[in-house]
Amino acid sequence: MQLGPEEIHIWQVDATQDVEAVLPLSGVELHKSAQFRLPHDRRRYRTTRTALRRILAHYLKIPADRLAIRESSAGKPHLAAPAPLEFNVSHSGGLALIAISHQPVGIDLEVMDSSLDWALLAETHCHPREQAYIVGDASAGALDRFYRIWTRKEAYLKGIGTGLTVPPRSFCTLPEWIDAWHLYDWPKPPPGYIAALATPLSRPTWTICEFAGYIDRHEPMSKPNQRRAPWMTR
Ligand SMILES: CC(C)(COP(=O)(O)OP(=O)(O)OC[C@H]1O[C@@H](n2cnc3c(N)ncnc32)[C@H](O)[C@@H]1OP(=O)(O)O)[C@@H](O)C(=O)NCCC(=O)NCCS
Repeated sequence: MQLGPEEIHIWQVDATQDVEAVLPLSGVELHKSAQFRLPHDRRRYRTTRTALRRILAHYLKIPADRLAIRESSAGKPHLAAPAPLEFNVSHSGGLALIAISHQPVGIDLEVMDSSLDWALLAETHCHPREQAYIVGDASAGALDRFYRIWTRKEAYLKGIGTGLTVPPRSFCTLPEWIDAWHLYDWPKPPPGYIAALATPLSRPTWTICEFAGYIDRHEPMSKPNQRRAPWMTR
């Protein structure tokens, strides 16, 4: 599968699968996974990282276990230089999303928690313009609007690589661009999920792929269910 200069590929990964028999992880990754206290967090990390390696291996034509993945000081994983591809990962619940691009990219996925104290979080973490948007005329839909803003913020912070070391309140995601970055929402996520993506590309072409390549060691992305369709709109 080829990735054009204006393209973004988004891989949807079932992060609940057991991939223990086919792990291509490095010693550092295995060590990191062993630090997770909860078994389901450990499995999700190992499964998602396995998918990431097999996806990158497919594009780069390098065996998944030979890829050199490093972390920035703020924790953003990246390919060791010279890096021909950029990527970013997000996981929540049983799902993970992996965005692949030739440009820096950030993605954030969340399971929406209906008991979340969105009012408090909006007050403490959102820009005043975002707060006004979230509260709206009435509180109906406020939770959705909070998560919309929140995923945009995290996608942007992951795109620039700082993560939450930059206070989320210090910038505004309305309208949907910040400096040279464009923010896109996922129009039709599975029920209960929400996601956003940040990219410097103003008119990317989207390709959605469902990852199905854990099992076959020799074909990293054996028969992905690939659909050419716009994933997000502005
Ligand atoms: C990065 C961060 C925004 C993740 O948000 P989240 O909603 O909890 O989790 P997500 O599933 O969306 O993202 C996690 C993934 O983002 C990636 N990631 C981690 N740090 C990142 C960063 N600084 N920028 C971009 N991506 C990052 C990783 O791939 C990670 O998954 P993995 O560890 O399984 O590979 C958040 O955890 C954060 O900012 N943490 C603080 C970072 C920090 O303070 N680092 C200081 C250095 S020690």
